Amino acid sequence: MALYSTAMEAVEAYTGLSPMAFFTILAMMVVTYRIVCTMFVHPEDHSTSASKAVDPSASFQPPAEPVQLGDVTEEQLRAYDGSDPTKPLLMAIKGQIYDVSRGRMFYGPGGPYAMFAGRDASRALALMSFDPKDLTGNIEGLSESELEVLQDWEYKFMEKYVKVGQLIP
Ligand code: HEM
Repeated sequence: MALYSTAMEAVEAYTGLSPMAFFTILAMMVVTYRIVCTMFVHPEDHSTSASKAVDPSASFQPPAEPVQLGDVTEEQLRAYDGSDPTKPLLMAIKGQIYDVSRGRMFYGPGGPYAMFAGRDASRALALMSFDPKDLTGNIEGLSESELEVLQDWEYKFMEKYVKVGQLIP
C-alpha cells in the first residue's frame, strides 16, 4: 500500500497531474496508438491478404507452354487476336504462326501493335506500315530492302517466340 501511495505521489510530483488525470491520458494515448497502427498494414501482409481475396479462376493465366496449332487458315487465325482472353495471342510472319502471348503488352487489346494479332502481318512489317491495307501476308512486289526488313523481323520472332503452326490457303 505504501508502494502504491509513493507511486501516486511520484506521478503527481513529476507530471503535475492528479493520478486519475494521468492514467486517463495514458489510456487515451494507448488507444490512439492502437488505432493508428491498424491504419498502416505491412506491404507483405497486405499482398497476402489481397491475393487470398482474388479468385485465381477469375483472371486469365496464359498456358505456360504454347499449344501447337498446326495448319490453320487466315480466317481461323483471326480468333487469336486477343479479343478472347482465354485464347493465346497469335501472329504470323511469312505464313509461320508464332505465339506472341508473352508480348501481350505489344499485341494485346489496347497495345500499340494490337492490329497485328490474329493476322499475318508480313507486308506491314516489311514496309513498317500501320496502314490496314498492308495487314496481309501478301509480299508480292516488295523491294530487296523491304524483304530484308521482313527477314530481320522473322529472325526476331523466331528467337523470341515459339512457332505454333503455319497458315494454309
Ligand atoms: C514512331 C515509330 C516507332 C517507335 C518509336 C517504336 C518503338 C518501339 C519500341 C520501343 C519497341 C520495343 C522494343 C523491345 O523492347 O523489344 C517496339 C517494338 C515493336 N515495334 Fe515499334 N516503334 C515504331 C514504329 C513501328 C512500326 C512502323 C512498326 C511496324 C509496322 C513497328 C513494329 C514493332 C513490333 C512488331 C514490335 C514488337 C516486337 C516484339 O514482339 O518484341 N514499330 N517498337
